[in-house]
Amino acid sequence: MKIGVFDSGVGGITVLKELQKRFPAADFIYLGDTAHVPYGTKSPAQIKRLSLRCARILKSKTIDLLVVACNTASSWALPVLETLLKPIPVVGMVKPGIEAALAAFSRPSLKDSPHSAILVLATRATVMSRAYAEDLHALLSPIPVLQQACPLLVAMIEEGWIDHPILRLTIREYVQPYVDQYPSGVAVLGCTHYPWIHREIEKAMPGWVVVDSSWAVGEMLARESFMRDVTASAKISDVPGSTEWIFTDEDAVPTFAKRWIDGRGDQAS
Ligand code: DGL
Repeated sequence: MKIGVFDSGVGGITVLKELQKRFPAADFIYLGDTAHVPYGTKSPAQIKRLSLRCARILKSKTIDLLVVACNTASSWALPVLETLLKPIPVVGMVKPGIEAALAAFSRPSLKDSPHSAILVLATRATVMSRAYAEDLHALLSPIPVLQQACPLLVAMIEEGWIDHPILRLTIREYVQPYVDQYPSGVAVLGCTHYPWIHREIEKAMPGWVVVDSSWAVGEMLARESFMRDVTASAKISDVPGSTEWIFTDEDAVPTFAKRWIDGRGDQAS
């Protein structure tokens, strides 16, 4: 089975890593649209156009499944991508992200507290779409469901500033008002770039549980009947699948991601 995974840049690698672990016998092809990152500051029409372009490239590589490892594209372009790929299944990030948030929020210390909230951290476009907020609000009301757009974070991660004092200050600037108002809660990383800086976000949000949706995507896929073959073959074969990489601007790939790709990109570790 060949699984196509795309993102505006290196964010989707956080999802790919999880899928490689979960489905070691599958072959992957990763497309990072580094020539057009960020998507999160673009209009819905632009996001749809760029997402369709990525999906067309992957479709031409005869994939069996498309994972839209970008919340921004998942929030705005999922229906057009499904139409383009039909009958190939398309999986986005928002549904698993919501599942991950609900699972984290179900612990008694959070759900029974009158002072906890859910905070969705995402790109401006994802926040505007309210893709997370609508469903979470419908499922959790009267728990406050809050959203914070963090447009500077993707730029810093693509710049390679994943361990930089400016990154830490910026995270604090975005989350401190929520930490001040609510002693506990669940912060959902509604952008696949953010797991690269998961620890830094966690450090800035004491008392809060910070969740990302990459694990939940694997979990959701494992339940799908079309994944049965690849799950079964992993049990009888030790031969790991391959990973092919496409970046629309090779020079724009940050060093930390290059290092990961060179050292471990072909392994399911
Ligand atoms: N990693 C993407 C997301 O999950 C997109 C970030 C961007 O390009 O702005 O939203």
